[in-house]
Amino acid sequence: MTAPTSAPDQAGPVLPQARGELSAHVLKALTELTELTELKAPPGTSSGAACAVEAVEADPYGDDLQLALYLLYELHYRGFAGTDAALEWNPGLLELRGSLERLFASALRQDTAESTRTSPEEALDALLVEPAGHDPDSVSHFLARHGQLWQLREYAAARSLYHLKEADPHAWVIPRLWGRAKAAMVAVEYDEFGAGRPEGIHAALFAALMSDLGLDTTYGGYLDAAPAETLATVNLMSLLGLHRALRGALVGHFASVEVTSSPASARLARAMRRAGAGPAAEHFYTEHVEADAVHEQVVRRDVVGGLLAQEPWLADDVVFGIAATGLLDQRQDTWLLARWRAGDSALRTPLGPHRASGPGRDPDQTSGR
Ligand SMILES: [Fe+2]
Ligand SMILES: [Fe+2]
Repeated sequence: MTAPTSAPDQAGPVLPQARGELSAHVLKALTELTELTELKAPPGTSSGAACAVEAVEADPYGDDLQLALYLLYELHYRGFAGTDAALEWNPGLLELRGSLERLFASALRQDTAESTRTSPEEALDALLVEPAGHDPDSVSHFLARHGQLWQLREYAAARSLYHLKEADPHAWVIPRLWGRAKAAMVAVEYDEFGAGRPEGIHAALFAALMSDLGLDTTYGGYLDAAPAETLATVNLMSLLGLHRALRGALVGHFASVEVTSSPASARLARAMRRAGAGPAAEHFYTEHVEADAVHEQVVRRDVVGGLLAQEPWLADDVVFGIAATGLLDQRQDTWLLARWRAGDSALRTPLGPHRASGPGRDPDQTSGR
């Protein structure tokens, strides 16, 4: 049997700056292990930097751990320019990823303990309860009422790490489902991926939104700018997507996104319209108002319902996925609102000037920098 081709990726995002010891360690390992491949070192040769690192002291939600985890997860998506594609399955990196995941997952379990004593139906119903009037803790409410263009641009830049891979980690659950749950999951994913039209892929619609806002549409282009709170929301879906053992929680995450999307998208469409962001910026959200009202029904009835009819013992995991999504979304909202209300940027590096709006570009075409 021949080993998969081992070669540095030609495209993909550039490696970001380290945010501490752990992320520096991962960046060094990615670079050194790639160099060893290029030197054609015999299989099993260690970089020395590889993977023994003390992670136990790290803040599970902090910049350093979240970036280290993000880097290791990205190897399963598009990798990084100049980094060996075969590192996706490097045992040392996988072992390190496992130790970071355990810290992250146990913090999530602990911090959602109170909100997981319920059923999946009740947990999803609770997401539909809209606070009367303006919710001071919600970014979409804030942006709909007060959002200025610079805040909408910051929001889109941060959220691009999620939306430019929208629906990708959820596709990993497909081989782990069967029957009604699988058919329904694929039906929703088909829409997310443009229903056969590349220009309709939701990630491409988001790239068009970014173009309207004068942002760089490069996949992963705002990794250095994104706060830990945003990285955690992306890392959650990668964690749940990559582990078959967490398929119930992944379905819970998906259901949570679809249930909350429609009303939040209506508010964000209003925010884009009010700020004069442009037609593509508005369209991304108006598209989600309608699509996700349908997706919500399908996901609740057939994906969650189908899964639990087949594997009823996963009910607690579904609730955990819903609760963990809510927890991390709220942490992200709290961070953004605190910074904006103080008149400060919520990003780690300020955005460049608003560039002239061009036609929305497909992120597939803009993966190099
Ligand atoms: Fe979508
Ligand atoms: Fe959707």
